[in-house]
Amino acid sequence: MAIKTVGVIGCGLMGAGIAQVAAQAGFPTTVVEATQELLDRGLGSIRKSLEALVAKAKIDERNRQDTLGRLKGATELEALKDCDLLIEAITENQALKNETFAKLDRICPPHALLASNTSSCNITAMAAATRRPGQVLGLHFFNPVPLMKLVEVVQTILTDEETVRAAYEWVQAVGKAPVRTKDSTAFIVNRLLVPYLLDAIRIYEGGLASLEDIDQAMKLGCGYPMGPFTLLDLVGLDTTMYVAEVMFEEFREPRYAPPPLLKRMVMAGHLGRKSGRGFYDYRGK
Ligand code: CAA
Ligand code: NAD
Repeated sequence: MAIKTVGVIGCGLMGAGIAQVAAQAGFPTTVVEATQELLDRGLGSIRKSLEALVAKAKIDERNRQDTLGRLKGATELEALKDCDLLIEAITENQALKNETFAKLDRICPPHALLASNTSSCNITAMAAATRRPGQVLGLHFFNPVPLMKLVEVVQTILTDEETVRAAYEWVQAVGKAPVRTKDSTAFIVNRLLVPYLLDAIRIYEGGLASLEDIDQAMKLGCGYPMGPFTLLDLVGLDTTMYVAEVMFEEFREPRYAPPPLLKRMVMAGHLGRKSGRGFYDYRGK
């Protein structure tokens, strides 16, 4: 099937990025948020990102304007009733995602593909909440979406091969690099990345070294673009904690359990860059 129009649900860190790259690649895109205020904030972040890309000569002014012209915002899922590909990027919560998939199934055209950007939730459960499980899959983008090339294309035991093929080609059409993986909690990247990030918190909590020195060590010692605490603040400590909880629940291995300090930082509202404070302080920046 041909994917001509795209709908994105959630305009937070990830949804905003996904809507942006879809529109940048020429797809008329509608993004839905829970409230007008959150929608305005999400669309504002897309405008800023496009301006940053123009300033760095990665896109030109014409492309920026055309991208904005292809983007629409809404606060009701009904606005997605004509979309061919739907990508869900709401909060990492299984029950909320299942409910959203059931609603999308009722609203969207029968041919539409329903994808989740989940980091760790069960996509098979989302598929089972619909009457089109063969057309449900994962499309897992990476943060920051406009800059990161990878998308994990996730096939459940219910996903049709045709669905995977169409989604894989769409990922290439938006200029990203797809890899295929099965619907097993956390897929490829997070299965390896999350235990590393949790271990970084544990060694810091244990007093081994300072935040700055751990970050510096992993950047300069391993050639990583960011140290683990800079990356945790980018990903969001709430999202990291939800993902760790799901992984621990699924595999029952202590290495996936969220460390005490992570839980307390989330309770304190220190969520990373998005809240102005995480392991580092971004207020005033
Ligand atoms: N749109 C446009 N520009 C953006 C942006 C966005 N959304 N986000 C950041 N930038 C810009 C910044 O504004 C900054 O610009 P300035 O230099 O003008 O300040 C620039 O990108 C950063 O540029 P740098 O020169 O510092 O770095 P870079 O361009 O070489 O690389 C990076 C930036 C690609 C983010 C790199 O640091 C990197 O790869 N970091 C690791 C990111 C990573 O691991 N992501 C995966 C997270 S895990 C995940 O996503 C999965 C999950 O389920 C949790
Ligand atoms: P976020 O908190 O920045 O954004 C989530 C947004 O969804 C919020 O703005 C919220 O208002 C909105 N939302 C919640 N319920 C909604 C509903 N019913 N309808 C419309 N909007 C709704 O979170 P995020 O970091 O963008 O994560 C979103 C998804 O992407 C999660 O599943 C997460 O695991 C996944 N993910 C996150 C990252 C990351 O680095 N943060 C990377 C890859 C995947």
